[in-house]
Amino acid sequence: MKKYNVAVVGVGAVGLEMLRCLKKRSFPVGELRVFARSARDIEVDGEKYSVKLISPEGFDGIDIALFAGTEGEKGAAVTYAAEAVKRGAIVIDNGADFRMDPKVPLVVPEVNARDIKKHKGIIANPNCSTIQMVVVLWPIYKKFGIKRIILTTLQASSGAGKGAVDQLNEEISSIASSGFTTIEAKVEKKSMPQQLAFNVFPQIGGFAECDYTSEEWKLVRETHKIMHDAKIKITATTVRVPVRTGHSESIYLETAKAITVQQVRALLSKSPGTIVMDDSRKGLYPMPKDIEGKDEVFVGRIRSDCFVKNGLWLWVVADNLLKGAALNAVQIAEKLIE
Ligand SMILES: NC(=O)c1ccc[n+]([C@@H]2O[C@H](COP(=O)([O-])OP(=O)(O)OC[C@H]3O[C@@H](n4cnc5c(N)ncnc54)[C@H](OP(=O)(O)O)[C@@H]3O)[C@@H](O)[C@H]2O)c1
Repeated sequence: MKKYNVAVVGVGAVGLEMLRCLKKRSFPVGELRVFARSARDIEVDGEKYSVKLISPEGFDGIDIALFAGTEGEKGAAVTYAAEAVKRGAIVIDNGADFRMDPKVPLVVPEVNARDIKKHKGIIANPNCSTIQMVVVLWPIYKKFGIKRIILTTLQASSGAGKGAVDQLNEEISSIASSGFTTIEAKVEKKSMPQQLAFNVFPQIGGFAECDYTSEEWKLVRETHKIMHDAKIKITATTVRVPVRTGHSESIYLETAKAITVQQVRALLSKSPGTIVMDDSRKGLYPMPKDIEGKDEVFVGRIRSDCFVKNGLWLWVVADNLLKGAALNAVQIAEKLIE
């Protein structure tokens, strides 16, 4: 079997999961190089990795570069993705820097694997909250059409990186050390704009057009791009909740054609990457604590709107570091070499 030289950029929340996914899925790796902002040795599940300081030359001879560094002007992808491509690598980027670039395919393999072929060196991985939504909505869209989506996300701390998980843990420790006499944590807000312990806050990203956050716009624009349909009306509120890993989404949609709950269950039960977990009266519905570490997108609480024709509610939960990031990127790499 042909082997591929692979680079992983970043060893934060997503980067570590990428190393795990490559191993777990037996990706045909020839040489593996791991890059970050500083060189050091790390251990992941008992396996040692030597992390090297990132440099353009580091990408010489690399076939596939999986980027999970920070975003933005001085971030890993903006600084090094073009360098990697110039040296012959195909870049799969987890950040938002290239997602809306018309030359860059934005891919969720269960939905638009075909778009991979259009790449010119860079392929983008969508935002975590977009990925889990489109995996579930795509089969419904294909069969029944979707006119409108209204959703609220409940997003875990790890969605904001390792620093946010550390901040939540420190906040919990700070409150516990007071003997729970206060719910105000004495912790610097280094990675999230508000305290998350004993709290939720409706702000993920900065505020943008129409007072929506950047995360809310990602759900709109990325879904339009992945599903190749900018006519779907999408509106979202994104909320950070004190969960370690696993984003939940309360999704309301209106289909174009009439649809029953039984049809949705039957359809999603045989859809790739989806598990229906839906027996609410027996307490069976997906919850982040149960899906951390799982590859699939879980859906439950499937129910019709009693008042609006073709209205449907879904409760969708997935591991934001796996299907929402690392796993989706590795699945793109698998399709690429297929
Ligand atoms: N967390 C999620 O659920 C999620 C989901 C989808 C997409 N994403 C995206 O995935 C990317 C990584 O997220 P994360 O949550 O893993 O972040 P993170 O925990 O903060 O880790 C970032 C990693 O990137 C490295 N890095 C940062 N700037 C770099 C640069 N210029 N060159 C090389 N390495 C650099 C850091 O190196 P050092 O360790 O040396 O500091 C660190 O290892 C982000 O673009 C994020 O938006 C995250």
